[in-house]
Amino acid sequence: MTLDASQATSYLKDYAKKDGLSIKELIDSTNFGGLTYNDILILPGLISFPSSDVSLESKLTKKITLNSPFVSSPMDTVTEETMAIHMALLGGIGIIHHNCTAEEQAEMVRKVKKYENGFINDPVVITQDVTVGEVKKMRKKLGFTTFPITENGKVGGKLLGIVTSRDIQFHEENADPVSKVMTKELVTGQKGITLTQGNEILRKSKKGKLPIVDSDYNLVSLISLTDLQKNQNFPIASKSFDSKQLLCGAAIGTMDADKARLRKLVDAGLDVVVIDSSNGSSVFQINMLKWIKENYPDLQVIAGNVVTREQAAILIEAGADALRIGMGSGSICTTQEVMACGRPQGTAVYGVTEFANKFGIPCIADGGIGNIGHISKALALGASCVMMGGLLAGTAETPGDYFYRDGKRLKSYRGMGSVAAMQQTSINANASTSRYFSESDKVFVAQGVSGSVIDKGSITKFIPYLYNGLQHSLQDIGIQSITELREKVDNGEVRFEFRTASAQLEGGINGLYSYEKQLHN
Ligand code: IMP
Repeated sequence: MTLDASQATSYLKDYAKKDGLSIKELIDSTNFGGLTYNDILILPGLISFPSSDVSLESKLTKKITLNSPFVSSPMDTVTEETMAIHMALLGGIGIIHHNCTAEEQAEMVRKVKKYENGFINDPVVITQDVTVGEVKKMRKKLGFTTFPITENGKVGGKLLGIVTSRDIQFHEENADPVSKVMTKELVTGQKGITLTQGNEILRKSKKGKLPIVDSDYNLVSLISLTDLQKNQNFPIASKSFDSKQLLCGAAIGTMDADKARLRKLVDAGLDVVVIDSSNGSSVFQINMLKWIKENYPDLQVIAGNVVTREQAAILIEAGADALRIGMGSGSICTTQEVMACGRPQGTAVYGVTEFANKFGIPCIADGGIGNIGHISKALALGASCVMMGGLLAGTAETPGDYFYRDGKRLKSYRGMGSVAAMQQTSINANASTSRYFSESDKVFVAQGVSGSVIDKGSITKFIPYLYNGLQHSLQDIGIQSITELREKVDNGEVRFEFRTASAQLEGGINGLYSYEKQLHN
């Protein structure tokens, strides 16, 4: 007998079983071993909205919500101030690494907090004794054409003038001090003006650069017309509610010296601290967490790393505002191999988030994110954000220079537990060694490798690619926000399936003689 086609969906309701498995059924049915992101698939849902309607707003910690769930790793080849500024501009957040002195790290945090899109907070400034010849050389070397001149040659000093190419171009006496040629009659903007107001002053005065000064005529920053013209808008930037400054995170270790480090970071304006440890369930971390909560009750603290409920419970009880999940899943990581310790990331994320979410503690899935699909799966398994090292390595905003090998443009990317990173660790910076409890070791036991990755261009293109891709992925699952994803995974509406080895083969590219994998235009 043929059934009535118009009754197909109601007929389905009478089926005892839905296609696929709930997340709990999937995990329970595979309790013979841990699952990785590649071991699972999410079944498609009903699309009734454009992908651009999908909201990616998500919690980073109890008190911080981001417009996109992307976090960059505290690694010395991934996050310094440039990465942190751009991650925040693009709706995520960067966690500045601590494989440097406390002063250097605090200075990076300060730069992120002081950053204002369109304002140059760190212009190259000179004194009036610098010679015309030296300015000509600086122009060639740095590529700038304009230099503000202050009494002490620094930002914050009294503004005396400005020297532009027009002032020195035809000046033959290279030994003359710049005070002879500089423009002293200046159009300036007052500290606190908006970019639009600065833009208006530049337009009316027909100048290329606008020095911003405080009430004592000390130089604060500079607005440049050329920068304004190429200025991008960042409508989903992560900013503090009150100060409107970009949000910034930084990592510290669990040693006593890290308390003094944290003081400096907080003075610089830090919003969230990550207690950086490969295994978060240690008395050192518990003590540090309690100390931070006692001394800086308003500072958000991300504790970790953890991969089990037992580890999570300890840190939740000690006051963590968020947990970082992952042990051995990083792309540069050898922990599972060398230490025989760790957990496949899919199971770790499910296990920990299922527990932590009951207490309202958001979790960050850290490590092993190799593509957009992994991000969707991490979120579906219960994470609120993802932390990425390798996926962002090789972008223009990471520290370090590009170099060429085998005709390819590359950048270095290394694990913080690699011998190279641990060796760089100085007395002031125990980042790498303390992360692996190795600060007193005579022979370092590496838990990571040092390598290189291909140039990925700027994250101003790469993060929007991840963002759009994630919106499309959730649209395919029939989900319009990360909150809805959580609800529908928990109530069993979003369905999963185990991905066998042959399913993984089928789902990958196969049967081609050659191909080029271009991720985005
Ligand atoms: P990825 O995104 O897969 O490259 O993983 C980055 C994550 O790996 C970081 O956020 C850290 O949690 C972790 N990690 C960093 N360095 C090491 C290391 O040397 N060994 C093990 N894990 C590391």
